[in-house]
Order: sequence, then structure tokens, then C-alpha cells
Amino acid sequence: PARLAVLTSGGDAQGMNAAVRGVARTAMSRGAEVFAVYEGYQGLVDGGDAIRRFAWGDAGNILGRGGTSIGTFRSKEFRTRQGRLKAAKNLVERGIDRLVVIGGDGSLTGLDAFRAEWPGLMDELADAGLISPEMAAAHPALMIAGLVGSIDNDLVGTDTTIGADSALHRIVDAIDAITATAASHQRCFVIEVMGRHCGYLALMSAIAGGADYVLIPELPPADGWEEQMCAELRRGRAAGRRESIVVVAEGAQDRTGEPITSEYVRATISRINGEDARLTNLGHVQRGGKPSAYDRWASTWLGYSAALEALTAGPATEGVVLGIRGSEIVRLPLAEAVARTRRVPELIAAGDYDAAMGLRNEDFTD
Ligand code: F6P
Repeated sequence: PARLAVLTSGGDAQGMNAAVRGVARTAMSRGAEVFAVYEGYQGLVDGGDAIRRFAWGDAGNILGRGGTSIGTFRSKEFRTRQGRLKAAKNLVERGIDRLVVIGGDGSLTGLDAFRAEWPGLMDELADAGLISPEMAAAHPALMIAGLVGSIDNDLVGTDTTIGADSALHRIVDAIDAITATAASHQRCFVIEVMGRHCGYLALMSAIAGGADYVLIPELPPADGWEEQMCAELRRGRAAGRRESIVVVAEGAQDRTGEPITSEYVRATISRINGEDARLTNLGHVQRGGKPSAYDRWASTWLGYSAALEALTAGPATEGVVLGIRGSEIVRLPLAEAVARTRRVPELIAAGDYDAAMGLRNEDFTD
């Protein structure tokens, strides 16, 4: 039978467990032998007990849990060829040549590099006498499928990534809670949210939470924005609003590319409006906790699709990442999806905001 491994990598995201379960149980039901790699790529490099047989029951009781039950890691060693050589040896020794990775853009880039290098790694291992030539010949290619696990919702060409919906729910809950206390005291709160280079969580939570002002990386404000923001907040108060809420994406920046920190926003409001503005950085509560219903069913569907992709794909010249666009699962060329994703902040830095947004929404489905 085919042997398939699944791992989670990079920052954890709610729904990763549902995806792992979907991958594992789909592959098992198709007759494959399934392995879970613990602690992300580091587990691949370390081998031993980090690569374990995964049985049907191992995927039990994880669907509704946050985080990733098979662990994750930002592995430096896997980024080196030496690390990937160890990883290839650990896989091929177990007869595994199909791999599903659930992670962010860095993790997916690593996956594609590993796939492309695989034949060379096999030759090197066989030449060094670390595996037999027969073993190398029996596994000429690594068949892969990538899934985007990241609360940031930043992969170009897809509408949602695993975890973004749950994080958004968590943020909106927090905004609701802060709004209540802010209104009681007639206070202004600045709320910092995650998202790295992507303003999705900030913008959507600002709309859903009824915030007064939002700062996102994609649309750096024009000079004088501080005065304009403070005037906006005063206008709300004058109209009878008891609280002011400003959402700041952690990647917010001005037009020169200088970060706009949430503390700067807080201090600016205090200074200009003469208020005791407060700051709440939501931090990792956005990532922990239960996955939403959407993140459970969508990740199950993605996991199912990724298992089929990895099981049926032959040796390929390019890796594939699966995502959701509209109400469909789409296959995207992995390297191109990552390259486009990385181009977005470059276009923003160059001041070409329209091109950046256009790129993010473009359809380049395989
Ligand atoms: O990419 C997911 C993410 O949560 C980002 O939004 C955030 O910038 C980063 O990871 C935080 O990473 P860490 O948990 O390693 O501090």
C-alpha cells in the first residue's frame, strides 16, 4: 500500500486538527498506511519516534480542538540541505513517499523545495551508502500536497486559509467585550490584531465589530492621518457614541514603510484628543481555542482533498497547494502561489496599492 505522512508546520491555526484528521482518515479509507510527523519538519529531520504510525483512533477527539495535536515547529535545520537529506532518509527508510503539509507560505516553500530535490537526495543517500540503491530506485519521486494553515488569510489565489475564520470570531468577541467596558467609561481603546503583512483580520474585525477606525498594511494612510483619525473619533463622541475603537493590524505601516505601532496610535489619541486611551494587544488568544464550525468543515474537506491529491498524483514537475475559492476547492501551483503572496508586500512598499490588491484577488487556478 501507499505510505503517506502528514505534518503541521509554522504557527498553529485552528482547524489544523480537522485537516490532519481529514487527510489521515481519507488516506486510510483508500487503503494507504498513514504516518504523523510530530513537531513539523523538525520531526522529519529527527526521525525516530517523531514519525509515528497513525491509526483511525488517533484522529479521534481532535476535530474540535484548537492548536495542532501533532505539534508544530519553525525548523531551521530543515532549511538546510543537510537537514533535508536526513528528512529524506527518515521517510524513505519507512517507505513513505507521499507527504501532506499544513502550514504557512514558508512551510509550503520548504515542501516544494524538498519535492524538487528528492531525486537528488535519493542519489546522494545511495552514493553515500546510507540507503540501498534498490530503496532509492523504488522511491524516485516525492508526491506532495500543501494546505494553507494560517490565521493570516494571506495566500494569494484563495479566499480563506485554515484558522482565519476562528481567529476572526475570537477577535470580534474581544472587540465586543472591550466595547462594553469602553462604553461604560467613555473610553477609547486601540486593539492590535495579528496578520503579519495581511490586513484581513484587522479589516474584517473592524467592520464586524463596528470599530471607528482601522489601520492595515495594504492601505497606508496619507500624511496627516493622525489628525484625521482623532477628528473622526471626536465626531463619534459628539454624535453620542460612548466608546471609540481603533483596530490596528500588527503589520500597519505608513507610506514610507515605517511601522505604525499600536502604542504609537494609543499615545497619539491621548495626546491629540486629551483622553486616557488604552491599548489591548490580543496576541495569541487569536490563535488558540476552539475552531469555528467553518474551520472544522472546510479543513475536513481540504484534508480529504489533499489526501486524494497526494495519493493519486504521479511524479510532478510542480507542487500543488489546495485552497478554497468561492465555494470550491482549487489547485494552485505551489511555487507561483507563494511567489505571488510575497510580491504583495513588495508592491505595497512600492506604493502600488491597486496592483497589490489586484494580485491578491487574481484567479490563477491550475
Ligand atoms: O502567521 C501566523 C501568526 O500568528 C502571525 O499573525 C503572527 O505575526 C505570527 O504568527 C506570530 O508568530 P509566533 O507565534 O511565532 O510569535
